[in-house]
Order: sequence, then structure tokens, then C-alpha cells
Amino acid sequence: MSRPPTSSAADAPEGAEGPGEGTAAERWAAQLAGWKIPREIEAQATEPPWGFPAAVFKASARPQEPDSPPRAAAREALPTGGSVLDVGCGGGAGALSLVPPAAELTGVDSSAELLALFAADAAAAGATHREVHGSWPQVAPAVPAADVVICHHVVYNVADIEPFLLALGEHARRRVVVELTARHPLCATSSLWQRFWGLDRPDGPTADDLLAVLADLGVEPTVVRGNRPARRERTDPAQVAMVRRQLCLAPEREREVAAALAELPDDGVDVVALWWDASRTG
Ligand SMILES: C[S@@+](CC[C@H](N)C(=O)[O-])C[C@H]1O[C@@H](n2cnc3c(N)ncnc32)[C@H](O)[C@@H]1O
Repeated sequence: MSRPPTSSAADAPEGAEGPGEGTAAERWAAQLAGWKIPREIEAQATEPPWGFPAAVFKASARPQEPDSPPRAAAREALPTGGSVLDVGCGGGAGALSLVPPAAELTGVDSSAELLALFAADAAAAGATHREVHGSWPQVAPAVPAADVVICHHVVYNVADIEPFLLALGEHARRRVVVELTARHPLCATSSLWQRFWGLDRPDGPTADDLLAVLADLGVEPTVVRGNRPARRERTDPAQVAMVRRQLCLAPEREREVAAALAELPDDGVDVVALWWDASRTG
């Protein structure tokens, strides 16, 4: 599950008055800014609501389907022994699922804790690996190009989306593969905000909004839409704890949150895979 952007990162840019106005990139940023938690609610949080817990984002907690479209698209473009750059790698579920044929992995992430997990699992898989700690695209100049650049479940954290996407393309020798949920991942638990705080949450941005940004950049990716079972989102204690923190609720509310999650409709998670070849990025 993606982190809502911090309020400073998600402030709407000048010129974007609301989600329906401005360029596609401005609309993207304006919609992300709508996820800002009201100050009076955030003030009641006992722990930071944001963040990516290792127990949820370690690679072993995120099993990859063998024939999932993003994995198949990356493998198709990878030479034997090829290199993968995983931007926002977390624990490395995406990159590690590509070994073999990949043999060289670079993980970029703003979480040092998750990068350490990525490094340990990449070494255990026998891959050559490199870690770059920091925020993309700010760290991009220090990152070498790779055959395939992947970026899974990160873009909804990125308010300034155009330079982020452009830097992905600039680092791919062969292909860029992006995976995201069809709409902002926190939409899945919006009803809990209404239940616990009486607060309406936004219903975007969506993958179509990202496609509009890419179109403005002259990128027309291949798009494959699918639905996967909700991982362990409804029952796993680490997931429940993450949702409880996201909701700015204290630990003693965890059972209530678990019960509320169990009541949500179980219709899986709509996901979208996008990829484009390096020659098409311009
Ligand atoms: C939802 S997790 C997904 C992790 C992994 N890609 C996966 O699919 O399992 C998002 C990850 O992106 C990282 N992240 C978010 N924005 C980033 C940025 N601008 N630069 C680098 N890492 C970022 C977070 O620290 C987190 O590890």
C-alpha cells in the first residue's frame, strides 16, 4: 500500500486550482494534495501515519505471480544476465522476481531499512547488487542505466510526476515497466475514514490520470489491466497495524480496525501494468 504524500510534497502547484484544471501533471499533483490529513486528526496520531513497514514490504510478503503482466513484460526485454533498476524497490519484490534472467540489480529507495532487506535478498539470490538511498529523481544522476527499469506501486507517492517519469525513461536501455493500482491505493480504505472520523476522502488520482501525464510527455505505453486477490490486506496483523496507523488511531483501536477491514467487500485489487520501450521515450 502506498504512502499518502507528505503535505509539503503534495501541495498543489501554482496554476492548478483544482483536480479538474491545469495540465495532466498539475491535476495529478492537485489530486494527491487532496489526501492531506486534516491537521486536527493528524494531531491525534500516536505514531506517524505514513511509512512502509518492513513486515509489509519485504519481498517474501509480496509474492509475484509467475506470469503477471509486469513481470512478463520485463522478462521479455531482459537479456540473460541483464540488469534491472528498481525505483522505489522497497524490499525488492519486483527486481528479485526477475532473477534469473537478470543478474545485476540496482535498488533505489528513500527507506534505508527496506534497502537493507533488498540487499540481503539480492545477495541470497546470487545477484550482483547496488543500493542507492534517496529520493528519485533527485538521486538519479548517481544511478547507472539498466536494461530494464521497473517501478512498482510508487507513483501515487510522487507529486512532481513528470521529472520522475522522465528519469525512469532516461535510465532504461530497453524498457520501462510501471505497475500501479487502478486508483490511489488508499481509496481501498476510504470508507474507514468515514467510519472512524466522518471524513470523506478523494477518489483519485487513477491510472488513467498517469496515462494522461505520459501522453503529455509523448509516451504511449502498452497498458494491461487486471485484478489480483487482495494479498493479506484484510487479516495480516502487519497490514492491520499499517492501516490503523494510516487512520491516525492508537494501538488499542487495532481490533476495531481489523473488524472494519474484514467487513469491506472482497473484490480484489484492480492493477494496471504499463510499459514502453526505450526508443519510444524520446
Ligand atoms: C508501496 S512501496 C512499494 C515497494 C516495491 N516497489 C513493491 O512493489 O513491493 C513504495 C516504495 O517506494 C519508496 N518511495 C516512494 N517514493 C519514492 C521516491 N521518490 N524515491 C525513492 N523511493 C520512493 C518507498 O520508500 C517504498 O519503499
